[in-house]
Parts: sequence; structure tokens; C-alpha cells
Amino acid sequence: MFTSSTREIPATAAVPRHVAIIMDGNGRWARQRFLPRVAGHRRGVETVRTVVRACAERGVGYLTLFAFSSENWRRPPDEVSVLQQLFRTALEQEVEKLHRNNIRLRVIGDLAPFGEAIVSLVRAAEATTAGNSLLTLTIAANYGGRWDLLQAMNRLAVEHPEKAGRYEEADLSPYLCLNYAPEPDLFIRTGGEERISNFLLWHLAYTELHFTPTLWPDFDAAALDAAIASYATRERRFGRTSEQLGAAPAAEASAAAPEREAHRRRA
Ligand code: IPE
Ligand code: IPE
Ligand code: MG
Repeated sequence: MFTSSTREIPATAAVPRHVAIIMDGNGRWARQRFLPRVAGHRRGVETVRTVVRACAERGVGYLTLFAFSSENWRRPPDEVSVLQQLFRTALEQEVEKLHRNNIRLRVIGDLAPFGEAIVSLVRAAEATTAGNSLLTLTIAANYGGRWDLLQAMNRLAVEHPEKAGRYEEADLSPYLCLNYAPEPDLFIRTGGEERISNFLLWHLAYTELHFTPTLWPDFDAAALDAAIASYATRERRFGRTSEQLGAAPAAEASAAAPEREAHRRRA
């Protein structure tokens, strides 16, 4: 089990262990070029390749990408169907490469509405890559933060009715979709909107947020580096004061040191 940011002080470092991204702006990227929205989604898949590679090279251990939200069904049926097709093609064409590169693939969200073909591809890809250890790539598809919390609460209540009324954080977190990952250190949203859009509501409790106007198809390794550089300057207090961080006990101080150094350099 990983540390909970609200129950213990997590160790931090200059390179985020877990990066979570809302990949937004594909439609606007296409519109700027007088192209159909789907052209933006296609370019967006290329950006996913670039960012997966860049994260692996930088030592990020977990990358979680929001690909389709539980509210994206409200889009025109044609667009929803193109997005599903792109997801399916990516599963068919990219998994072997991920596997060769020692990347573990996980997909979170309510997959049933996508149909049996996609569910089977996902389960097969997860099984093939289960033993890989360089980077865990999670795709959130038909995912919603509220859905995640509700499915977790319902399963917990069914499996542990004896504890009803006395549930604690540690009881619930194993039932949440991302139970195999530490909480995200860095959240990035491209496309200029500054909102969470029902992404990881539970997990973002103490995540550092980075919003950039860059549209997802234009996001690249340099843009990722800018986000990580911004992250490295943040003072993550987890409820404490700055003064307390200065007087942190030895073990904790060494874990937090690179970040504090970066903070001092900027100040
Ligand atoms: C993000 O880009 C991709 C998905 C939500 C599937 P958008 O399609 O939301 O692009 P904009 O926000 O309309 O530019
Ligand atoms: C968030 O983007 C969901 C994904 C990137 C998958 P949206 O474009 O759907 O978000 P809103 O509607 O602008 O909040
Ligand atoms: Mg959008």
C-alpha cells in the first residue's frame, strides 16, 4: 500500500513519481487549422506516444491519462464513435511496443459500455504487460471521479457490512481504481481550462496543479519539462508551516530536500 497524503507525510522528490494529465484541446487544435475535430484526436494520440516516452526517460514511475470522461458521452454520437475507434486501434497497435519498452498498461473506468471487443483487448493488454516495471501507464476511459468513489463505496459496503458507520480512509482506498499507484504528485491540464472535470477527485487531495494553455496536440517533451520544473519549485507542506519543513526530522528532510533546494534557488 502507498502512503496516504492525509494520513502520513509522503516522501517527495524533484521528479514527480506519478503524473496525471487531462489531455484537453484536441478539438480547438483542429478548428484552428480548419480540420474536423477527429484530426485533433488523431494528433492527440501521437502526443500520447511522445509523453509516455518522455516520462519513462525522466524516471516518472506512473503516468495517468484522462482519455474519455463519464460525461463525454454527451458529445455528438459521431465523435463518441470516432474516439472509441481510436481507442480500439491504439489497443490493437501500440500494446506490443509498450510491452517491448517494459511499460505496464492499466485502464480504469467503466468499460462495459464500450462493448466486449474493447473489454477483451484491454484485459489482454493488461495481462501481457502486467510484469513490466519501467512505467505504469494508466488510461482513464469512461472514468469519472464520482463513479470511482461510488463503485468503491458500494463494494466496501457489500464486502464489509460489519464495519458500516466506522469506515476509514484505509478501508476505502483499496477499492478505488488506482489502488496500485501512489497519489499523483503532479496534475497537468492542457488546453487552458482550469478545472478538474470529474477526474481523480479523491486522489488529487494534495497534488500540485499545473495548467497550461498549450493544446494537447502541441504538448511535447519540452512542455512536460516546463511542468516538472514548475513542480520542482513548489513547497509541498501537506498542512504544515514552512518553518516546520525547515526543521523536518532527518529521514523526512532528505526525502524532501531536492524540492526545497529547488525552491530556495528560485527564491
Ligand atoms: C480532449 O480534447 C479530448 C477528449 C475530451 C476526448 P477535446 O475534444 O475536449 O478538445 P476541445 O476542448 O474541444 O478543444
Ligand atoms: C476532460 O475534457 C476530459 C478528457 C480530457 C477526457 P473535456 O473537454 O471533456 O472537459 P470540459 O467539458 O471542458 O470540462
Ligand atoms: Mg475539451
